[in-house]
Parts: sequence; C-alpha cells; structure tokens
Amino acid sequence: MNQNTNDIIINHYNKVAEKFGLSPSSTIGDQYIRQAEITFFIESLKAKVSNQGEGQSLFDIGCGNGHLLSVIRQEFPKLKLFGLDFHPELTKLAQSRKLENCEIIQGDMRKELSMFGHHDFVITERSVINLLNKEEQFCALSNISMIIKPQGYYFFSESFEEPRANINRARKQMYLAEDINPSKHNLWLREEDLLTLNENNMHEIDGPLAKNHLSTHFYITRILHSIALPKGGVAEEFQNFFNTALPAAVGNYSPILFRSFEKSK
Ligand SMILES: C[S@@+](CC[C@H](N)C(=O)[O-])C[C@H]1O[C@@H](n2cnc3c(N)ncnc32)[C@H](O)[C@@H]1O
Repeated sequence: MNQNTNDIIINHYNKVAEKFGLSPSSTIGDQYIRQAEITFFIESLKAKVSNQGEGQSLFDIGCGNGHLLSVIRQEFPKLKLFGLDFHPELTKLAQSRKLENCEIIQGDMRKELSMFGHHDFVITERSVINLLNKEEQFCALSNISMIIKPQGYYFFSESFEEPRANINRARKQMYLAEDINPSKHNLWLREEDLLTLNENNMHEIDGPLAKNHLSTHFYITRILHSIALPKGGVAEEFQNFFNTALPAAVGNYSPILFRSFEKSK
C-alpha cells in the first residue's frame, strides 16, 4: 500500500469530515445524484430482501459518515447492517449515529474482509474508485466477491472511464474548453475491470434503475447548464426544470453507473 495515495485519501476526507459532519452532502454536493443513488440501493434491496430482511445481512464498504446506512436502517429494520470505512473520523461519525443492529468498523477493503462475515448484500457507493491503482481495485473487488454468500448480491454506484469520452466529446462540440476529469482522490473503473467480478462467480443482472440512469442529469448539468447559464446566474431552477421535463437515462454521459451483480450458487 502506497503511503502517498493513502495520504491523498486521508487528507481529502479529513476536510470532508470536518466540513460536512453527518450531513447527506458529505462526499457529494449534488443532491440529485445522492437521491438517485439512495433510490437505486433501496429499490434493489426491496426487490431481493426476503422476510423483511430477518436473518439476512448487508455490508456497506466505504460507508463514510453512515448516511446511506441510516436510510437503509429506516427502510429495513430487521436487516443486520455492517459498515466499514478506512477513514478514522468518518468511521467515528458513522458510529455516532448508534444505528440499531448495525456494526461500524474501521478497516480497509484492500485487506481480507472475511473476518467480518459473509453477507447477502454488499454495497459500495463511490468507494472502490478511491483506490488509486488498478491492483488495489482488483484486490478489493475480489475481497468483496469472496464475502458475498452464494445467491447474494453486490450493488454499486461507481464511476467509469468509458462515458467520460462521450461527455467530453459533447462538451467539445459546444466549445466548452475544459474536459471532465476524475479528481485526484479517484481512479475511475473500466468495463474490463469487472472481469474480476466474473472470475469470482459474480454475474451482472438488471437492476431497478437503468445503469445509465444519471446520463440525462449529467448532460443537463455538465453541458446544457454550462452553455445556458449567464455569468452570475443560479442553476437550481434550470436544473430542476430539465431533470423533471426530460426522461432519465438518455445516452451514456454519466460516469457514475448503477450496477448489480449476483453470485452463483
Ligand atoms: C465517496 S465516499 C462514500 C461514502 C458514503 N457511501 C457516502 O456517500 O457518504 C468513499 C468512502 O470510501 C472510503 N474508503 C476509501 N478507501 C477505502 C478503503 N481502502 N477501505 C475502506 N473504505 C475506504 C472513504 O474513506 C470514504 O468514506
């Protein structure tokens, strides 16, 4: 594990933990994206949880301040919950929620995870992309696969490289000078990286939302907005209008994709 890359992650989330505390805006300012992610995870679980979650467990890897776990707790009171995060302050914030029937652990997804048990559901929300080299991402994806029970599920919201070319081509056509790039605390996945999941008996299934659900939103906020907003203008009403007026999931402009995998028997 490279100390420099660990420092990038720790320094970034030190600021996040201090500025946002328990807020839903922690780790993502855009609340349309946050809400869409919550809908994806909750609807995915509603489709697969049995007996209201009695006797089943879910592990949120990279749980941050525990906001998503708190929403899941409300929706599924009987599901046993676990959360793991690398960052000490974010872990403490998640623990401070004192969610019922929920264990929050400080740990590292690059290390073996089986001591935290095997689970019916594992979820990650933009956390595998915090691993800043491919070997570490493969290692984490393989560790995740290994702690999913047969016929269990891995639901994730992570960013991918492939849609970036589309959004940057569309921006160039509108003479928008700057490309969209991953921030320095992220390394976006590539489709081929998901072979690690296939090699570990995981196969992709359809989810309740299209995997490109956020595509329209990205086109509105990264292209339309950029060409239409006068200097000093406020984007809020503009974005709300087009998010409501246009159907979701048009094109492939969103780096953030919602994906669902099931483990074979
Ligand atoms: C984008 S945040 C998502 C957090 C939470 N799901 C949310 O949306 O607020 C990514 C999280 O992954 C955690 N993380 C980064 N590297 C990790 C690692 N190696 N093991 C476990 N968690 C890690 C970070 O500390 C951060 O809290």
